[in-house]
Order: sequence, then C-alpha cells, then structure tokens
Amino acid sequence: MIDLRSDTVSKPNDSMRKVIQLAEVGDDVIGDDPTVQRLEQLSAQTAGKDAALYVPSGTMGNLIALLVHCQTRKAAIVGSESHILWHEGLGATALGGIHLISIENESDGKLSDADLDKFAQDKVADPAVVCIENTHNRCGGRVLDEKYLSEIANHAHRLNAKVHMDGARIFNAALALNCEITDLTRNVDSVSFCFSKGLGAPIGSVLCGDNEFIKQARIVRRNLGGGMRQVGMIASAAEYALQNNVKRLIDDHSNAKIIADALSKFPQIEINVNEVETNIIYFNLNNIDGDIFEKTLAEKGLYVSRPKSKQEVRIVTHIDINEKDIKQAIEILESVITSLSS
Ligand SMILES: Cc1ncc(COP(=O)(O)O)c(C=O)c1O
Repeated sequence: MIDLRSDTVSKPNDSMRKVIQLAEVGDDVIGDDPTVQRLEQLSAQTAGKDAALYVPSGTMGNLIALLVHCQTRKAAIVGSESHILWHEGLGATALGGIHLISIENESDGKLSDADLDKFAQDKVADPAVVCIENTHNRCGGRVLDEKYLSEIANHAHRLNAKVHMDGARIFNAALALNCEITDLTRNVDSVSFCFSKGLGAPIGSVLCGDNEFIKQARIVRRNLGGGMRQVGMIASAAEYALQNNVKRLIDDHSNAKIIADALSKFPQIEINVNEVETNIIYFNLNNIDGDIFEKTLAEKGLYVSRPKSKQEVRIVTHIDINEKDIKQAIEILESVITSLSS
C-alpha cells in the first residue's frame, strides 16, 4: 500500500525506535525530564526564540498560543482556509471565549490585505493576535516568504496585535525558500511546529516564544491536561527527527513535483505545477467522479485524500515514500485516470 493521504501517516523507523527505547526520562510536569529539556532548548534555538514548550499536538500548540495571546482581548484573526478554523474545532472559543474572525486566504496562503485593511478601518473588533500558517496546508503547501512575513507582522503590530505562526511544516517552507527557519520566525511573536508530520516522529509539536509567553503557555498546557510525565520517551523521537530528518524533506518536495508533472499531462486533471512548492499537491478532477477515483486508486494500492471537496484530490509525499513508491504511484494514477476516462 502506498499511503499519500498525509505526511502524518509515517511510522518511526528502527533507529528512531532505538532512541525511544534508550531515552533518559523524568517527571516533566515538575521539570525533571532531561530529554524534554534538551528538545525544548534545541527547538527554541531552531526557531530563534527565548524558550519552547513541548506539546502533544499541533492543535494543542495553536490552542495554547490563542489562549495566552487572548487573555484580555478576546478576538483572533485567522485565515479562511486555516487549519485552526477548519480542523481545530471550537477549542479557542469554548475554552477562552475567543472570537475567531476569519479573513480571506489568497490562493497562496497569504491573508488578504484588503480584508485586513477593511478590518482595521471598520474597527469591528479588537484582535489580540493575527494567525498565519506556513506552509499553508489547505492552500496546497504554499510558502510565505520573509518579505511577506515582515509586512504582515508590521500590519498586525500596527493593529496592536501579536502574530502567531502555525508552522506545522515550517521546515518545508524554509527548505523551499532556501532560507533559515529564523528568517521566517524573526517577525512573529510565537510559532508552533510539528515533529509528527514530515519529520517522521510519532507524536508531538512545540510552541516557541519569549520567556514570559512560554511561562504562561506552560500553565495553560497543564490546565488543558497536556502535562505529560516521563514524556522523554516520545520527546526522544522528536529530538532524533529534528537532528536527522530535516534536510531530507527536500526529497519529498522533488517527489511531489514528479507526481505533479506526471498528472499535468492529462486533460482530465486540473493542476498548476508551479504552485507545488513543497510536499502537498492539490488537483481537480474533470469528468471523473471523485468518489470512484479515490476508491479505484485504493483498490490498486494507492491512498489519497479529499479534505476540501469531492472533486479536489490531495496527495502528500513523506519520509516513508521512496523513489520506487513514487514510480508505482504514478503508474497507478495514470492507469486509473485512463480507465475512468474511457
Ligand atoms: C497546518 C497544520 N496545523 C496544525 C495541525 C495540527 O496538528 P496535529 O494533528 O498534531 O494536532 C496540522 C495537522 O495536519 C496542520 O496541517
């Protein structure tokens, strides 16, 4: 089975499992886990921030960021296609009474300037934070570059709002842009990133920010039930992933390009290969039924997903997919497109 539904489906390899087995641990809720301490230090350094907090998931990282930023002013701006809005439920609203104000995401993942300006002029609410996503999942893994990030941060700061970056796939963004992570995080006030996506660890994310922010985030994590005890067991896998699996993400990007190029030859497939910037591919089906397409691919051993709509297919390349799998995936895609078109 070739599973291209998401980069979250990858499984720890033998080296990672060995590291997990040998992990040094302690009670992290009372600050005694040396592996977590090392991971948090390395993460903070990677993001160029004072401090970091290990959290069970990207969703909890974003939730904690919203709860800390919106303690007094109860509004947050999020993109209309953001993961926070579509896939993270009502956590911030239910637990923090936070009004999530959605403004339009352009197709490249940027927030619409016009909407932000209008928002500032109309003064409909007083947002404490503007959330951005890099890379942008539902916008097809598109990257936000340093120039845009500096502009949006200035914009947000002029509104007296902080900036939180959902950087679940920040390493993909930095590699695609051939820049340092810190170039992308310099102007944001907080950033979360995930170990359990392209980096191949089984669990966990991290939230980074200044010392005061992380101090408060630590309390909120505990209150949410995210205080974990001998969590060095899994933090060791995250540390291994950070040390060993970042540079290879570039292979996922070239694999995604290879698939996108192959798909672009078919008139039944609507795809813009220039928009495939990282490891996520979206394409539309013309004159092929989405349900039948997905089912037929699965029968032939290829899993894809359709998180946005019936006719819009998503493919995500990742660490468990090698050159041979890509070749085979393309063969399956080509045969299914051809057979369903005739
Ligand atoms: C952009 C983005 N942010 C946040 C998350 C949430 O991560 P988790 O599934 O670890 O909660 C995801 C998950 O796919 C994501 O794609």
